[in-house]
Amino acid sequence: MSERIVRVGLGERAYDVVVGPGLIGRLGEWAAPVLAQKRVFVITDAQVARHYLDPALAALAKAGIAAQHHVVPAGEATKDFAHLEALLDVLLAAGVERRTTLVALGGGVVGDLVGFAAAIGLRGLPFLQVPTTLLAQVDSSVGGKTGINTKRGKNLVGAFYQPRLVLADTDTLATLSMRERRAGYAEVVKYGLIDDAPFFAWLETNGPKLLEGDGAATQEAVARCVAAKARIVALDERESGPRALLNLGHTFGHALEAEAGYDDRLRHGEAVAAGLGLAFALSESLGLCPADQRRRVEAHLQRIGLPSDLPALQGIVWNAQRLLAHMARDKKVADGRMTFVLARAIGQAFLASDVPAERLQGFLADLCERARS
Ligand code: NAD
Ligand code: GLY
Repeated sequence: MSERIVRVGLGERAYDVVVGPGLIGRLGEWAAPVLAQKRVFVITDAQVARHYLDPALAALAKAGIAAQHHVVPAGEATKDFAHLEALLDVLLAAGVERRTTLVALGGGVVGDLVGFAAAIGLRGLPFLQVPTTLLAQVDSSVGGKTGINTKRGKNLVGAFYQPRLVLADTDTLATLSMRERRAGYAEVVKYGLIDDAPFFAWLETNGPKLLEGDGAATQEAVARCVAAKARIVALDERESGPRALLNLGHTFGHALEAEAGYDDRLRHGEAVAAGLGLAFALSESLGLCPADQRRRVEAHLQRIGLPSDLPALQGIVWNAQRLLAHMARDKKVADGRMTFVLARAIGQAFLASDVPAERLQGFLADLCERARS
């Protein structure tokens, strides 16, 4: 199977996203043409390092590229000021120069942290993304959102900073747990729901195959998602308009994650899946979307083993006021108004900042009441 290449058309900051099997084994060959200096610094997490650090370093050496490396702990907690500072210190102590390229080898945590370190280290170092989770391959590695979490919330400090190249080696998904694969799949479904109903229909047939590791289905899905994201990012790099559509399911999802305390009971993708179902349910309750469309979305998420509604989590009693308070802290709030991504049907998402407060409150109150009974 040969690789697929998607171009992210951002003028002088344009870059390729390469999708296919066996790419880490050819990392040096792919990286060489975009390096300003034959020197890179690979940053990965401890779990990814076990599987892919040695093959990545060997592939770089084969292409005559000098490589140093640094391993951070696996997990969301690594995306914070302390780990950012430690990483920058390692890089500066190693004497990285402005032309030294950072390589982010891992999931969205490593990609976001390293991308942000690249954005601010020496006022800008080139960097490459080598995403190894389904979520990172279809979403976080593409589009240049980088950043860390603070005690005030997720992803609140960061920068738009584009990589020079993204290498999505689909073979790496084989070592990902089924739970992580499913969580990433929520972001895959999202693209079908935003503006590609045929892709959603394709997923209804091929989604289970993808999760079981079918190579052709995986490459097709990842390439299609990346092409959709590249299209939207090229239109609106800094999210002043249509890029916000990529947040379908995320306003609800972030509120659920915040309420659950960002712990292992609810992965980001699981919260997004619930958020997708809830975005369709809210659209239906506002009379914007037919019930059969909401039912089809829920049925697909459930078949995949993802939540499509408020998830039942041990120790959590869902409360409408608390969910609302989390939503009100979302980065997308403008002039005190929340922006929702709603849908008229599968593949017909749109932005709405005029959802009446009392309708939203009523929707959330009913939802939480149903979850309790
Ligand atoms: P992650 O990076 O924490 O990876 C999940 C787990 O899988 C980790 O334990 C990791 O060590 C492990 N792992 C990674 N690749 C593996 C592999 N191939 N085999 C075995 N284990 C592997 O989580 P994620 O879901 O990839 O990313 C979530 C992060 O992405 C969040 O911080 C979220 O905010 C961010 N995000 C960013 C954007 C963006 O546009 N920048 C978009 C969506 C999400
Ligand atoms: N993950 C949403 C975005 O990149 O805009």
